[in-house]
Amino acid sequence: MQGLKLIDIGANQTVTKQIQRGQGEQSPFESKEFKAANKITLDPTYIFDTPGKEPIRKKTIEDLVPQIMQAHQMLIDNEGDIHDGPTPMTGWHNLPIKIVRQHLLEIKFTAKKLSQEIDVFVSLGIGGSYLGIEATFQALSHQFFNQLSRKERGGAPEIYFLGQNMDPDFFRDTLDMLAGKKVGINVISKSGTTTETAIAFRIIQDLMEKNWGVSADKLILATTDKVKGALRELVNKKGYQSFEIPDNIGGRFSVLTDVGLVGLAMANIDIEEFAAGFRHMREISLGNDFWQNPSLVHAAIRFAAWQTGKKIEVIATNAMALYPVARWMEQLFPESEGHHGHGLWLSPSLYSEKLHANGQMVQQGERNIIETFLLLLDHDNSIKIPFSEQNLDGLNFLPKQDQDMGFVNRKVIEGPAYAHYQGGVPNMTVEIPRRNAFNLGQFYYLMERSVAISGYLLGHNPFIQPGVEAYKQAMFALINKPGFEKQALDIKAKLDKLERIRI
Ligand code: PA5
Repeated sequence: MQGLKLIDIGANQTVTKQIQRGQGEQSPFESKEFKAANKITLDPTYIFDTPGKEPIRKKTIEDLVPQIMQAHQMLIDNEGDIHDGPTPMTGWHNLPIKIVRQHLLEIKFTAKKLSQEIDVFVSLGIGGSYLGIEATFQALSHQFFNQLSRKERGGAPEIYFLGQNMDPDFFRDTLDMLAGKKVGINVISKSGTTTETAIAFRIIQDLMEKNWGVSADKLILATTDKVKGALRELVNKKGYQSFEIPDNIGGRFSVLTDVGLVGLAMANIDIEEFAAGFRHMREISLGNDFWQNPSLVHAAIRFAAWQTGKKIEVIATNAMALYPVARWMEQLFPESEGHHGHGLWLSPSLYSEKLHANGQMVQQGERNIIETFLLLLDHDNSIKIPFSEQNLDGLNFLPKQDQDMGFVNRKVIEGPAYAHYQGGVPNMTVEIPRRNAFNLGQFYYLMERSVAISGYLLGHNPFIQPGVEAYKQAMFALINKPGFEKQALDIKAKLDKLERIRI
């Protein structure tokens, strides 16, 4: 029997686009038409007046407007509880207009050069030094990118991520994907001391040096603080090509810095278009008309939901490609809002899949949920639903109406949005016109700004993460890191007092 031929199925447009980008095709992102066709819309219709107890009223939001407008101005003026040590951590706010084309071109040049020398690129990092890169890469690339031919990837190497966990089996499996290939890496860590990244780097660096000696140094990029930290020291010693993470931009706000840009350029993602998306949303987000400013409305709704006792925000999307973007949000919001007993728990979900699982809970469980939909309007590909002679599933009405899979997939959000609203779950939809770098850039900026406003409303600094530091310190003590002996003794003393129950 011959292998399957994709009869009557069109060419994969995701692949086509990646090839075009790989050949240097320029996006018309500055044109009015392009901007109009790529408008991100926030639809909060189903937030208000849900049936059941304590609905959010439009008036609740309107009452918050003076407070929100004050926060909006404070953010613009760089005021308030926004410092990490002496540094105001709002460098991301004007980054879209500060980033210069020359810098983007330099990154593209480095990426192209390294790309030509390697088969596989590995991005090493965790948290903000990882999630934005993976989310953007997966949102804009073929879902089985590494299984495509190099030509189908537009000339890009295979792309893998390590350092985001300490699972030796996952690590070993990834190594199998690298074996026999020429490998290039970017090790990303602002602090330069994060254990997971450092261990992953040490193993890969060791392997690369054992294979290629000093020539390995040319295949290693490092992205870290401009002057300080262990990784910067190593860069100085080894002469690795390096990139910088600005002092005043925290990890989860850093996807438009070199942290994100280098990896994205390696995958043939158009970083100029990406930056333009950030710029465009920055302009929109500076507006003083509350109801025309999605960053303010988004922040207000989430704050009102939290004040009315909501505890969980389901972030549901109908696009496999956007699920990692929901995971990026899962970091941005809880790491920024989860202080002093505040904040919503985020639950990234892919619909339809989760509608057949925790969808039951959303519809009829405890009413402590709000829901945000990331609705992808136009998919890259249209897949026709064939006519069936037997019509046993009763679905012939779809091909008769000339409806494709994408039509049904939109209803995978529109249906639950209505049903969940009726079930007492306030929900809003962020409409994302299509998968492109411009829309991702716009989306990230919108969310970064919303969470910054949220910090002002909650009354705490959203740009620090002492809770994350606490786990890092405990882990250092438990792995017997020199300098953490006292913490190790404290932990032991506390554990000795606990009644250990093992069943
Ligand atoms: O948002 C943050 O600041 C964190 O998630 C960091 O990005 C994460 O802890 C990784 O830190 P580093 O880049 O210092 O290794």
